Amino acid sequence: MPKPIVFVTRNIPKPGLDKLETVFQLRVHASDKAIERSELLAAVRDVDALLCLLTDTIDKELMDAAPRLKCVSNYAVGYNNIDVDYATSKNIAVCNTPGVLTESTADLAWALLMACARRVVEADRYLRDGLFTGWEPLLFLGNDVFGKTLGIIGMGRIGQAVARRAQGFGMKVLWHGPRPQREDLPPEYQWTDLETLCKESDFISIHAPQTSENHHLLGANELAWMKPSAILINTARGAIVEEAALINALQTKEIAAAGLDVFEREPKVPQALMDLPNVVLLPHIGSASIETRNKMALMAAENAIAVILGKNPPARLN
Ligand code: GLV
Ligand code: GLV
Repeated sequence: MPKPIVFVTRNIPKPGLDKLETVFQLRVHASDKAIERSELLAAVRDVDALLCLLTDTIDKELMDAAPRLKCVSNYAVGYNNIDVDYATSKNIAVCNTPGVLTESTADLAWALLMACARRVVEADRYLRDGLFTGWEPLLFLGNDVFGKTLGIIGMGRIGQAVARRAQGFGMKVLWHGPRPQREDLPPEYQWTDLETLCKESDFISIHAPQTSENHHLLGANELAWMKPSAILINTARGAIVEEAALINALQTKEIAAAGLDVFEREPKVPQALMDLPNVVLLPHIGSASIETRNKMALMAAENAIAVILGKNPPARLN
């Protein structure tokens, strides 16, 4: 019997490709750039499984162009790039990679939080620009992290991993999410409504999935509730924050700083953000550690293999 065909939309770590090859005939768009839409539509015509990235839009048009498709395996935990309901209606399994990237993403959120609080990137730039002429009592004064209040929006796996880091810094943890009653959380984490979280937090970190309900969850009103010293961290999805309102809040010093790994229209980053000294901007690298990307590649491969073999995949969404 011929092997089923899997199409991988970009180079991913080798352990994942090796694993896929044990079961599939492997086709890879071997490039470091995103595949063109027209190329993707043509490539899925005869495939049984698709291993895709968060930069690929997997919608009705694509699924209709792939009559043999049984599995969409996303190399990401977030899956707002996929029309899961339509996949379900066509009996296509949709899988993602939760769990394996939790700690890496929390680490990156924490790196942004620390970098913003202590102005690490700004100070590095200053030194490289040759401006360091000696220790100064008032040079690059930032904010302490220890003992402050952290507001976490979205208390799933990654939100909880960030909360654990906050405990090591003696922080008070507030959180907001749609399910206030949570037996699984330590009692010292306090659920609040969004307004209270915005008003009381020194740092706010977003760890919610992007859904239609939380599109622009943080806009001009919410930013206005925040303290002038507040620092906003987003390692989740750009569209949860209204980017134009955030730029305005940073320009007018309504909030102190922001650390962003995600943007509303990636890979577009508004020039107005780049012009601001009080932001740290990263190219969506939350899960980008060697170990984690290997684990994600393996898990995405295992998901696709399990679906094709009629077994239970490690993480199926529908
Ligand atoms: C990255 O953003 C992911 O969703 O895995
Ligand atoms: C997550 O944020 C939840 O409400 O469970």
